[in-house]
Amino acid sequence: MKKPVRRYLDNAATSWPKPQGVYEAWERAGRSLGVAAGRGAYGEAVEAGRIIDRARSLVAAMLGGVEPDCVAFPAGGTLALNMAIHGVVQAGDHVIATAADHNATLRPLHWLASRGVITLDIVPCDRSGRVDPASIAAAWRSATRLVAISHASNVTGALQDAVTIARLVHNRGGLLLLDAAQTLGHVSAPEFTAIGADILAAPAHKWVLGPMGAGILFVRPGIAIAPFVQGGTGSSSDRLEMPAGFTDRMEAGTPDLPAIAGLAAAVEWLEAQSVLSVAAACRALALDCALRLAEVPGVDVIAAVTGSAAVGSAPIVSFTVDGFDPAEVAAVLEQAAGVQARSGFHCAARVHEHLGTAAGGTVRVSFGPFNAAEDVDAVVNTVALLVGGESVSSVRV
Ligand SMILES: Cc1ncc(COP(=O)(O)O)c(C=O)c1O
Repeated sequence: MKKPVRRYLDNAATSWPKPQGVYEAWERAGRSLGVAAGRGAYGEAVEAGRIIDRARSLVAAMLGGVEPDCVAFPAGGTLALNMAIHGVVQAGDHVIATAADHNATLRPLHWLASRGVITLDIVPCDRSGRVDPASIAAAWRSATRLVAISHASNVTGALQDAVTIARLVHNRGGLLLLDAAQTLGHVSAPEFTAIGADILAAPAHKWVLGPMGAGILFVRPGIAIAPFVQGGTGSSSDRLEMPAGFTDRMEAGTPDLPAIAGLAAAVEWLEAQSVLSVAAACRALALDCALRLAEVPGVDVIAAVTGSAAVGSAPIVSFTVDGFDPAEVAAVLEQAAGVQARSGFHCAARVHEHLGTAAGGTVRVSFGPFNAAEDVDAVVNTVALLVGGESVSSVRV
């Protein structure tokens, strides 16, 4: 049987393919430069340093014109979140997180709470994955210091009302940690400015369209953050203390130059297309997919893109099919139509209790800038045939 053409629809996990310039920058940094940036004074090392500075400026602009020196590049989004959490919270703090958060936030917080270091409240979300800011206000205690939210749910795509939540947190003297994994690259710079998160963390490899191996950590000046990872920085090397400067403090170890060079190229590509027009194109595919899947008998669609809070939501469509395990549906999608979807809980421990999908999770498809209308057809037609009782081997789109 001929293998169907690959239709990659797991962009919420990592985007693929990347713009051509990302691969070129990544390869050039690894093959032609191939140096440890910040660790030498020879030509390639200096150029490597320039590439990293440029990436910092590009990302700082994407975040709404923050100070580039407040942007660090840890090795990934999970590390950036861990650095934020372990670097900022102190013994006795109360932290509020949400049921829509990813395990990259919930697990480090649970780790600290289960060891008695902090107290933690996880506030609920509704069936679209949205959190009512009032539930954060209701959970507030005198010891509350940090509120951690996923800007958009990686299961439903729901965008939180981060502006209202930030205002609430700041009025009460707390800090907002924004996990922008599912929004950076789709949400405009002015929107990030309007939120004014104290700390923002994201990987480069999702909607920013950069390579794996680079994360983004922004911390507002004046916020004390201990270095969760300590080591060589190429600066003040004669001292055992970590240096004082934010980027040195947050970037111990040899930087992943190819990943950061690719990140810079990705941001340039996104800006050239316009972040909002790329987001709108991806969202249009997700909306089409969600609306058409909802017409198929027995399919339950859970996607913020179709609801009243669709504006700004991530191009993610979760769904379940009556009588089929999500893993089974994902397997049929790939075998029959080459559609690469994700099934299960999507590393989000709590959200499924609120979506009614705690038994087996969902099937998730997520659309990137290189997907097309035929990819939506492939999903919808395959699911319709499956529901219609076609055998897996005969399901063809
Ligand atoms: C909302 C959210 N936060 C954090 C992460 C962690 O990112 P990474 O796995 O790239 O470290 C993910 C990845 O799926 C995510 O969806």
